[in-house]
Amino acid sequence: MKIVGCPMNTRPKFNATNDSLFMGHRTSLFNVTNDMDFMRLALRLARRGYGATSPNPMVGALLVKSGTIIGRGWHHRAGLPHAEIEAFRDAEKRGFSARGATLYVTLEPCSMQGRTPACTDAIIAAGIRRVVIGATDPNPKHSGRAFEILGRARIKVVHGILNDPGTRLNEAFNHWIVHRTPFVTVKAAMTLDGKIATAGGESKWITGAQARAAGMELRRGADAVLAGINTILADDPSLTFRPDRNSKNREQKQLRRFILDSRARTPLNSKVATDEFARLTTVVISRHAPAMRVAALARRVNVLVAPENPSTGRGELDLRRLLKQLGSENITSLLVEGGGETNASFLSAGLAQRVTFFYAPKILGADGRTAVSGGGIKRLADAISLREVEWKKVGEDLMMTARVGAAGWERENHRPVIGRGAGKPLSAQSNSYGLEWGRGTVK
Ligand SMILES: NC(=O)c1ccc[n+]([C@@H]2O[C@H](COP(=O)([O-])OP(=O)(O)OC[C@H]3O[C@@H](n4cnc5c(N)ncnc54)[C@H](OP(=O)(O)O)[C@@H]3O)[C@@H](O)[C@H]2O)c1
Repeated sequence: MKIVGCPMNTRPKFNATNDSLFMGHRTSLFNVTNDMDFMRLALRLARRGYGATSPNPMVGALLVKSGTIIGRGWHHRAGLPHAEIEAFRDAEKRGFSARGATLYVTLEPCSMQGRTPACTDAIIAAGIRRVVIGATDPNPKHSGRAFEILGRARIKVVHGILNDPGTRLNEAFNHWIVHRTPFVTVKAAMTLDGKIATAGGESKWITGAQARAAGMELRRGADAVLAGINTILADDPSLTFRPDRNSKNREQKQLRRFILDSRARTPLNSKVATDEFARLTTVVISRHAPAMRVAALARRVNVLVAPENPSTGRGELDLRRLLKQLGSENITSLLVEGGGETNASFLSAGLAQRVTFFYAPKILGADGRTAVSGGGIKRLADAISLREVEWKKVGEDLMMTARVGAAGWERENHRPVIGRGAGKPLSAQSNSYGLEWGRGTVK
């Protein structure tokens, strides 16, 4: 078996920015000569699956023979063929044989029969000579297996090529597959002094059209969105994915919607309870919620009875257990969209992995509502720290995205649950979380 590591200092000779060049497949004209160049193209293919592949990862693949791309593929949607198989089919359609070719694939090929046959078998059967892999399978049960299987079949394997962007591309999937809880992003649009609404609760719109479009893109990539009841009462948001009229992504993807509402105050005429996606709404209540209101809500939307968080003692819903339930429902990524109390609950409990904050060049002053409220942190040393911080200008506004907390935090608080039972729907276990799930499941 031959496994070769990534030449990390190799400088790419080619920066493919024009997709039409790529579409032609003939790459010799464009000097695509090394593994990093091809992997970069494969990553671009993988990104085409953004918002569509969950609960599977985004994956791209290229077949290359004598410097020419003879086939390309990406994973379009869960249940459809994997990227490698798409690339084989593409080559065949164009009259090329994959025998003797190099396969570039952004994620370690699957080695187990799942909903689709193992890709390692297909690679061996196709007579591939060399496989160049980006990121390693994050699932500890499978990680590295493909290298061994392909190596045993005397296929040369190179791995770790553009590992970092490949891993980052699927950070939500990677988190979910290891922890079995969704990857949580807290998103907020605020003034420069950190206010998300006026004292009277007015918040539409703090940021401009471009920032709001970027926020929509976040929804497109998420499986579910969550808001607190005060936000529903103040704004009556629809919390849907609404593609821009000019957007290439006009598909009708919709997300699940969750409302933290321990007392079942969600108005029966609110958008989340009455629009065409009401079946995707879940109002999360506590067992103390008034039965009449709960019954009325349960006729329109899903109602989930969640336990209260014993550590706060304030009757707040237990978010940690809620996240476990969401993970068991194959929700790999959750976008938390406020308001301030909700944002604070996720951030202060260490339950968010990423923040995306939009800053408008506006100031509201002391009476405005704070983006992250709650009890606050007394000592600077205890401040929630952000890393991998990126800033981008979007129209007049700034978009900041960052990972939350020290890497060590996740190790302490989220022990991986991989093992027996992981990967199966956990509905049978949901009682152990003290949760009840589904329309009319209220007691
Ligand atoms: N600019 C923006 O990006 C943006 C986005 C969203 C909202 N907003 C604004 O934010 C304001 C509302 O924010 P808010 O801080 O007052 O309230 P919120 O976060 O929308 O809702 C908080 C409420 O959710 C319920 N809840 C249940 N469990 C919870 C838990 N574990 N953690 C937190 N909340 C829990 C509680 O009500 P119960 O006790 O009744 O269950 C709590 O009072 C509105 O003015 C809205 O316009 C702005």
